[in-house]
Amino acid sequence: MHSAVNSASRYQCIFFAALVMTTPALSAELMSPGQQNALVQKYCAVCHTEATKNGGLSLEHYDAAHANPPLAAMLLSKLQGGAMGAAGLKIPDEATRDAWVAATTAQAERAKRWTVIRTEGPKSKAPLLVASIVRDVASRKPALYRLSLTCNIASHQGEIQLTWSPQPQTDRIFSVSADGNPGLPHKLEGREEKMGNGSAGTTGLAAATLNVPLPEKTLTITDLFPGETVVFPLGDLDQAARQQLGVCLPTGARK
Ligand code: HEC
Repeated sequence: MHSAVNSASRYQCIFFAALVMTTPALSAELMSPGQQNALVQKYCAVCHTEATKNGGLSLEHYDAAHANPPLAAMLLSKLQGGAMGAAGLKIPDEATRDAWVAATTAQAERAKRWTVIRTEGPKSKAPLLVASIVRDVASRKPALYRLSLTCNIASHQGEIQLTWSPQPQTDRIFSVSADGNPGLPHKLEGREEKMGNGSAGTTGLAAATLNVPLPEKTLTITDLFPGETVVFPLGDLDQAARQQLGVCLPTGARK
């Protein structure tokens, strides 16, 4: 097993080295997961810790080697929106920035389809099933919404979380509708404290917990930003994942 992995990666190294030598323009796409992780730790994880979870997001244990496409898409929208400077450090040079963005772009490729992973709670070590997906907004590029449904397989506790990027939002009532049923109002209030060296002050929110039954077909978010509607295709979720989530999340939004 080990030797197979080693020879495969040795082969990749030789292959990539040859590629870099012959086509320097492609080198931007070759940033290793290790390098990406080091950048995320340095430029992002100061605020996105397990303890503070700015924007509902911890990047403390982020591992680009196991990239999660919907999460990568959110990172990408922030990377392109100036978040590299948020920690108040000198931002990486242009080649590094380009390579980081290119690597994250590649990892985000399947973000608009469901990604289902089995993982562990970082502290509790509880077994979790997490299904997530991203939707974009045609009228406000590069705005993204990410829906993530989590089931703690041990305790049967579940959560539906919505996050958005790159703009934060606050002091709004938005509507959440399961399967076309009347929308349930959700209130967004308050601010988050920015805690990097560079940017003291507060900002709006970028995450909300949704209080809605697990839909069969669609989950629709309306007016989180003025005039915007996003529809998440719950009907496309695979049956096994859906069944597992149904153990943790209330169902019965059927019409
Ligand atoms: C100074 C603290 C700080 C730093 C450093 C920081 N962020 Fe954030 N981030 C926040 C805050 C506060 C929010 C929520 C409000 C907002 O979106 O502006 C947020 C929101 C986000 C979101 C949207 C919410 C979500 O869960 O999808 C993403 C994605 C994100 N950050 C990624 C990054 C990345 C990638 C970096 C590093 C390049 C980074 N952040 C660096 C404070 C920070």
